[in-house]
Amino acid sequence: VTVFIPRDAAALALGAERVAAAVARAARERGLDIRIVRTGSRGMLWLEPMVEVATDAGRIAYGPVRPDDVGPLFEAGFLAGGAHALRIGPPEAHPYLARQQRLTFARCGVIDPVSVAEYRAQGGYRGLAAALRLGPAATVEAVKASGLRGRGGAGFPTGVKWATVMGAQAPRKYVVCNADEGDSGTFADRMLMEGDPLTLVEGMTIAALAVGAARGYIYCRSEYPHAFAALNEAIAAAEGAGLLGPDVMGSGQAFHLEARLGAGAYICGEETSLLESLEGRRGIVRAKPPIPALKGLFGQPTLVNNVLSFAAIPWILEHGGSAYAAYGMGRSLGTLPIQLAGNVRHGGLIETAFGLTLRAVIEEFGGGTLSGRPVRAAQVGGPLGAYFPEALFDTPMDYEAFAARKGLLGHGGVVVFDDTVDLARQARFAFEFCAAESCGKCTPCRIGAVRGVETLDKVLAGESPRENLALLTDLCEVMTDGSLCAMGGLTPVPVMSALTHFPDDFSGRGAAMP
Ligand code: NAI
Repeated sequence: VTVFIPRDAAALALGAERVAAAVARAARERGLDIRIVRTGSRGMLWLEPMVEVATDAGRIAYGPVRPDDVGPLFEAGFLAGGAHALRIGPPEAHPYLARQQRLTFARCGVIDPVSVAEYRAQGGYRGLAAALRLGPAATVEAVKASGLRGRGGAGFPTGVKWATVMGAQAPRKYVVCNADEGDSGTFADRMLMEGDPLTLVEGMTIAALAVGAARGYIYCRSEYPHAFAALNEAIAAAEGAGLLGPDVMGSGQAFHLEARLGAGAYICGEETSLLESLEGRRGIVRAKPPIPALKGLFGQPTLVNNVLSFAAIPWILEHGGSAYAAYGMGRSLGTLPIQLAGNVRHGGLIETAFGLTLRAVIEEFGGGTLSGRPVRAAQVGGPLGAYFPEALFDTPMDYEAFAARKGLLGHGGVVVFDDTVDLARQARFAFEFCAAESCGKCTPCRIGAVRGVETLDKVLAGESPRENLALLTDLCEVMTDGSLCAMGGLTPVPVMSALTHFPDDFSGRGAAMP
C-alpha cells in the first residue's frame, strides 16, 4: 500500500513530519508493508497535514491528521480507505478542488516532486518534446497565442518578452526565474517549487531553447529552505535523466540550470535588483530602460519570468496556445493560481480561469472569516495591492477589472480581514513596509515612505487633518509618478484605497495608534 504525505512547508509546519513518522511506526508495529511517498500539498491548507492512501478505488484522503490520529486511522482500516471522522474521500472530488481548473498545478500534491519517472508518467516533458519539434520561432508563437501574461504581477505579455530576447543579438543570453516571492499572503511559487519543481525546470528549459540561452538561474528567497532543497534535488534528477546539461533530451543543445539563494530582501524580487544580487552585488534597482530582455544579467539579454509564468509553459506547449487561451476573460487568459489567506476559514491555493469574482473566492472557496465575524476588506495583490470593501467584491479576477477600480491582481494573493480591522493602521503599515524595504536609490520611495508615516500619524492625532490629508494625497502622487520601480510606485495603492473606501477609519483617533 502506498501512503502519500506532504513535504510541503505548510504541511510540515502543521506536523506532517511527525505524522509521517507515526504512520511508519504504526505500520511496522502491525507488520504491514507500506510505502510512504512524500508529495507536495494539494493546497487545501486547513486540511493539512492531509494524508492520502492509494486504494483500489483510487486515492482516498484523510485530514487534518495529527500524530495521535494515526493509531485510530489504522484501526479504522484507512489503508483500504475505511470510514473515519477524518475521511475526506477522493481528493479530486472535494468541492474546493473539483471547482478548480488545475493546469499549472495538475501534478502538485499528486507525485513525488523529485521523481523524473513519476513526472513523466503524469505527462511531464511532453511540452519540451513539442517545443523541440516546433523549434524556437513556433515555440514563441505558441506562447504568444496562449495570451499568457507575467504571473509575477505586472501582467506583461510573456510571448512578447520571449520574442524580444529571442531577437536580441549577443554572445550569451540567460534565462532567470524570479522565485523571490516576497508578497505577504502569497505562496503559490513556493508550493509549486516544493510540490512539482520539474514543471518549473521544464518550463525554463523550453524558454532557454526558444530564446537561445545556454544557462539559467532560479533566484529563490532564503525564507524558502524547503523549496530550495526541492529545486536542487529536481535539477540533479533532471540532469541525471539527460533533461538538463550539455545535451537536453538528445537535442544537441545545452542548458545548465542552477538555483541561487537570496538573502531576505523584498526589493530583490524587483527584476533589476534581483539581477544585481545574482551578480553578487547589493540589491539596488537599476533604471529601466534598458530592459533586462535586452541588457540584463552581466549585461546580456536576459529572460526574467516569475515561477508561475515558466510553470504555465509546459501545459501550453503540450496542448497548444489556443487551448490555454480558451480559459479566462478579456485580455486575462488562462488560469490564475489564487492564494487565499488571512482571516479566512478555508485558505489555500485556488487555480482557476480568470473571471471568478472576488466574492466567490472569499465566500464560496474561503467560507467567510475564520473568526466568524463579517468580512470588511480584502487586500488583493500583495502588500502593495488595494484594500477592497465588500461593495467591490463582485469585481472579477481580471487584470483590467482590478486596474479599473484602482487595484491590482498582482501575483494573485488575497488577504481577508474581518470587521475588527483598522484600515488607517493598514495604510500606515504600507508606508512602514516601504520605509523598511526601500533600496534607497530614489528619493520619492526612500524619503516619501518615512514622511508618509509621519503625516499619517499627524492625521490620526487630529493635527490639522484636512491639510495633512491633502499633503498625504500629494505625497502619494509624487511617489506614484516619481519612483524608480514598483516598490515606491505602488505603495500609495494600499494607502489611497484605504482612504477612499474606509474614510471613517481616518477620523483622528490618535490614542488608537502606536
Ligand atoms: P513592469 O510593468 O515594469 O515590467 C513587467 C515586465 O515586463 C518586466 O520584466 C519588464 O522588463 C518587461 N517589459 C516591459 N516592457 C517590455 C518590452 N517592451 N519588451 C520586453 N519586456 C518588457 O513591472 P515590474 O516592475 O517588473 O513588476 C511590478 C509588479 O510586480 C507589480 O504589479 C506587482 O504586482 C508585482 N510584485 C510581485 C511581487 C511578488 O512577490 N510576486 C512582489 C512585489 C511586486
